Amino acid sequence: MILVVNILILVIFLLVWWFVQDKRSYKNYPPGPPRMPILGNILQIASQSSFPSVAFLNLSKKYGDVMFLKMGMVEAVTFNSPDSVHEILHHEKAIDRTRTMLPLIQARMYGKNLGLIFSSGESWQKLRHFTIRTLKDFGFGKAASMDVVVLEEMDKFVGYLETKMQRDGVVEVDGLFNLTLVNMLWRLVTGINYSMNDKKIQKLLKLSNDMIKNTKFSFDASATFPFLWHLFPSWSGKNLQMMNITALQEYCRETLEYHRRNCDYKNHPESYVDVFLQKIDETRKNPESEFTDDQLVLCLLDLFQAGAETSSQTLSFSMLYMLIHQDIQGKVQKEIDEVVGKGEVITLDMKSRLPYTQAAVLECLRKSMVAPFPAARQATDDFYFRDYFIKKGTIIMPNLECVHLDRGIWGDPHNFRPERFLNKDMSIDTKLAGKMLLFGGGKRVCLAQSLAETTIFLVLQIS
Ligand code: HEM
Repeated sequence: MILVVNILILVIFLLVWWFVQDKRSYKNYPPGPPRMPILGNILQIASQSSFPSVAFLNLSKKYGDVMFLKMGMVEAVTFNSPDSVHEILHHEKAIDRTRTMLPLIQARMYGKNLGLIFSSGESWQKLRHFTIRTLKDFGFGKAASMDVVVLEEMDKFVGYLETKMQRDGVVEVDGLFNLTLVNMLWRLVTGINYSMNDKKIQKLLKLSNDMIKNTKFSFDASATFPFLWHLFPSWSGKNLQMMNITALQEYCRETLEYHRRNCDYKNHPESYVDVFLQKIDETRKNPESEFTDDQLVLCLLDLFQAGAETSSQTLSFSMLYMLIHQDIQGKVQKEIDEVVGKGEVITLDMKSRLPYTQAAVLECLRKSMVAPFPAARQATDDFYFRDYFIKKGTIIMPNLECVHLDRGIWGDPHNFRPERFLNKDMSIDTKLAGKMLLFGGGKRVCLAQSLAETTIFLVLQIS
């Protein structure tokens, strides 16, 4: 009995000591729910919703739009109002990505600072600049070349869809657009164009899709307690995820080697990979050079995964909204019929004559919100946000979803209503459209925003 009482007293003493320490350590930090030893705020987050964006938004109603959360071992600040999200996306001390959070991301980057999405610092800046410039040189985002690419790929897509419908009678919408979108991008990135029935690329796209879906589990377990990833490789999903990521890395390396052996990249560069290989050759003697084989592998992997998944999911959701809202689909069709002549095809220069269609596409983008959190960033230094202290290394999580569901901006955010984007004279309300933050913001804004908007506009109208 005395032993039990002593243990109880010790536990109470330790808990009191822990709470006092905890309060002291996080003085001046943004408010947040009370933390528990070891788990931090995991239970409070999980009790709100299995979608972190919804859970954070709910908690922020009680604790404020800028909120400090501890997820196991991870210290994070989440931003849950349009103003705070906008401000932090543009903050000079919140530009770097975090690599410490997910062991999967570290493995994906061979444990180094590589690629475009999860890299940071000077290397990221140089590669981002190089990638945007080189892709532009090959026609990335330019109306004339995008029209041709999109139309050719959509021709293939419609043919594939017809055959599949005749043969199977049904199509699965999830991932339906992946290959078409990769083909549009891959013409510029690698010069390769796959057939819609290419088994190898279909398998790789499935692996990539699985990897992104499974990352939710990794986020829950190995992101909050990274040691679990190594300790329980099967249960934590490590084995499966490593298999997927290795196959995707190998595919990118094979693409690189194919170009090195078979293309005249030195004299006639015909794609992003060719120009990158030129850079590798030019800077081979410089040990500090950003242009290496591993970098190229990661840039390809980033473009492949970002290029296929986000736009494809947006298109799948958009199709769903159009199916549910048949009246809106009818209005879009009517406008297209009036503007596009019989036998003519839609091109980007017709966009300004299709205001209702443009408004419907904007509403699809707003509602689909496929990336509610941009890849997490981290504080590069101690800083104050409003009056709150944010320590160097803290994970920064702007909740983009709260912007697209804000009643102050949209009035009725849950309704699907393209008219909200139209002024009285039927022009687009560009000020309202500019409030969307689907592609993130600041220096890390999606590098393919214009390409994604263009392809989504054209693909939706053609389909
Ligand atoms: C509807 C389609 C898309 C959406 C919603 C989307 C969304 C985003 C978001 C939210 C970010 C993070 C921005 C931030 O941290 O502030 C991002 C970054 C990025 N996106 Fe996209 N994206 C789309 C399409 C694409 C496409 C087609 C590509 C391929 C070319 C692409 C490549 C990238 C890359 C490389 C980054 C990292 C940029 C950096 O950190 O510097 N995205 N995207």
